[in-house]
Amino acid sequence: MPTCHSTNDIAAEWIGKNKAKHGDLFITDYQTRGRGQRGNTWETQPGKNLTFSVVLQVPFIKPKDNFLLTVLCSLSLYDALESFLHTGIYIKWPNDMYRYDEKITGLLIENFVKGNCIDFCIAGIGINVNQLHFDIPHATSMAAAAGQDFDLYEVLQTLLLCFEKRYFSLQNGKNQELKDEYCQKLYRLDQPHQFKNTDNELFTGVIRSVNETGYLMVEVKGKIKPFDLKEISFII
Ligand code: BTN
Repeated sequence: MPTCHSTNDIAAEWIGKNKAKHGDLFITDYQTRGRGQRGNTWETQPGKNLTFSVVLQVPFIKPKDNFLLTVLCSLSLYDALESFLHTGIYIKWPNDMYRYDEKITGLLIENFVKGNCIDFCIAGIGINVNQLHFDIPHATSMAAAAGQDFDLYEVLQTLLLCFEKRYFSLQNGKNQELKDEYCQKLYRLDQPHQFKNTDNELFTGVIRSVNETGYLMVEVKGKIKPFDLKEISFII
């Protein structure tokens, strides 16, 4: 589509009309109402970046294990970015891709649950590919990182191949291996850094891992504590 409001919304409409199937891809040059996590917007320069949503059918994932979908998408993005940029790629918990201290991709996962199964999952992905200037702090693109433009189609094709590979691992029950790999690639793993809690207080912590339900496990004053998304923010 040359333009649309949000590829995640279009994918959801197709699911609602029983027209969507596993592997469907909704892609646009420009979103007029691109959505980000926690009610944020996702805005990018037309034609410079990749903005798309992939529909997945994951009947083998129970709703309680939905964090595995974050793992699947994050690792796929990691693999694709690493193949182009080679160094400095990290997964900033829970699912942003960072190059050193700057965000390079955003991911918005929306699940459709039926009974005790995830019927459909929409993985909405924004990759900053060739945009060089950003109005927000701590943002970068593949081109800014590499000093050269990339072919959008080639980046998309690479990512979809990475996705397919990781999807098969998940389908084959390699849950623990995938989670372990996700944890190894975490931004700021095993180093003391500053964070902010819900009361806006700063504290020093060391990210140690992510638990079964996707909580960030951070060592604070010698004790490892779980944090959910609302309870911790990174100071960058
Ligand atoms: C974030 O980092 O806040 C998540 C951003 C997700 C953006 C993508 S772009 C394609 C898809 N459609 C949307 O409306 N959002 C996602």
